[in-house]
Amino acid sequence: MARHTVIPLSSDVIGFAEIISSRSNPIDSDEQAPDPVLFQTDRMQRLSTPWPVSLTRAEQLADCRIGKGIILDPACGSGSQLFAYCQELNRPGLGIELDEDAAVLSAANGRVISQLSNGDWAPETFVLVGDGTEASAALDELGLSGQVIAALHVDPARPQDAQNHALNEMEPPIGELLQKWEKHLVIGNQGPAIIIDLSPRLLPEQQAEVEKLLNNLWPSSPITWEWVSTGRGRIDRLTIWFGSAAVAGTPARMLRLLPDGSVISFAGSRSKVKQDRAAYPKSGDWLTIVDSALLSSGLQGQWVREALPAESSRSWVRIDGRRPMLLSSEPLDMNKSLVKAFVSSTGEVISRLKVEPTLDNLSPILVSANYAYLSRLTLRCKMNPATQPKLQAQLDSGLKDYPRGKQGFLADVETKEGNAWFICREP
Ligand SMILES: C[S@@+](CC[C@H](N)C(=O)[O-])C[C@H]1O[C@@H](n2cnc3c(N)ncnc32)[C@H](O)[C@@H]1O
Repeated sequence: MARHTVIPLSSDVIGFAEIISSRSNPIDSDEQAPDPVLFQTDRMQRLSTPWPVSLTRAEQLADCRIGKGIILDPACGSGSQLFAYCQELNRPGLGIELDEDAAVLSAANGRVISQLSNGDWAPETFVLVGDGTEASAALDELGLSGQVIAALHVDPARPQDAQNHALNEMEPPIGELLQKWEKHLVIGNQGPAIIIDLSPRLLPEQQAEVEKLLNNLWPSSPITWEWVSTGRGRIDRLTIWFGSAAVAGTPARMLRLLPDGSVISFAGSRSKVKQDRAAYPKSGDWLTIVDSALLSSGLQGQWVREALPAESSRSWVRIDGRRPMLLSSEPLDMNKSLVKAFVSSTGEVISRLKVEPTLDNLSPILVSANYAYLSRLTLRCKMNPATQPKLQAQLDSGLKDYPRGKQGFLADVETKEGNAWFICREP
């Protein structure tokens, strides 16, 4: 008996999909081509890769030297990532999905995306309902055998609520998946092309475990780790690009999805970041709070080289938590979109606040803010969550009479003598 049911990207599938779920709302955008309007259940919407990220990744794969063959996603969910690859590479794809409804929606999404693209990949592209680890059975169903998979991309389901999870809790489990598909992968100059989405919460030991799984099967193939961030310190995705999908000599890459749907990408070597506890901000220096995703990627050294002139001093005065902070003697080059994309706040240090920011100390804080010609002072420092909105409201009301002033923020720095607070004025 067949273990997989084949769904072609036919016109009928749209009708079946409409019975299961409605289509997502289109995102209005004046400047860019609109995102395709895809079928998704609420669960799929939570799990699926945003279209601009799918597309950027597909462009990256198109730049890699992958062999002839089809693109496989053995746990394809909504199919948006798989069909972004098909569209960008103009190659047939194979999606496999355990959940029958999701598989139908995925095939319908394939149809929608193929109608918006110029390629001729759709007639040979299929979604199978069934287990993505059953490699040979799935290929048999389509009359395929041997090394036919030019690239394998998988985004396994993972436990939703767990802070951390073991690798074998991913569905389908990646070890088993790789073993079953191994003999069907096309081997290019750098090995097979494999892309695996992992939890951004994966510990460094677990990242090493994934590398080992891959290197045990294909020793000495290159690896590029990729982080995707939507800002505010949120790392949405951690992905390993392996073998022919990796960029040799480029161990790390960062994609930052901007609110307008565009994506900034940069890549390079990883370096360890060290906190400089001796650094002490003085007037005229600059304090910059950066997206914590940048430090997780290890690409901060390269980013700082883009952000600051060579003559500027630079030290990381905080490296953990949601608000890593850089101290520099010169302002950052905020005209570069790559630099701006990772900055939450940047400002010139105007003065040190001599008191702790509490409700009782409102007056001296207002005096310092006035001295800095500020019309708003945003609290960007650690404080009691109950006090923060109250103090912010009082500062807003106390500064509202100076509408021509600049924006500023209050940052805290851990110094040798304990916590210190600094009033910073934004450029
Ligand atoms: C995180 S989602 C994939 C999301 C997809 N990348 C997207 O953009 O929509 C993981 C999917 O794997 C499916 N899945 C889990 N185990 C599977 C298996 N053994 N075979 C096939 N699909 C499986 C789940 O039903 C789920 O839809």
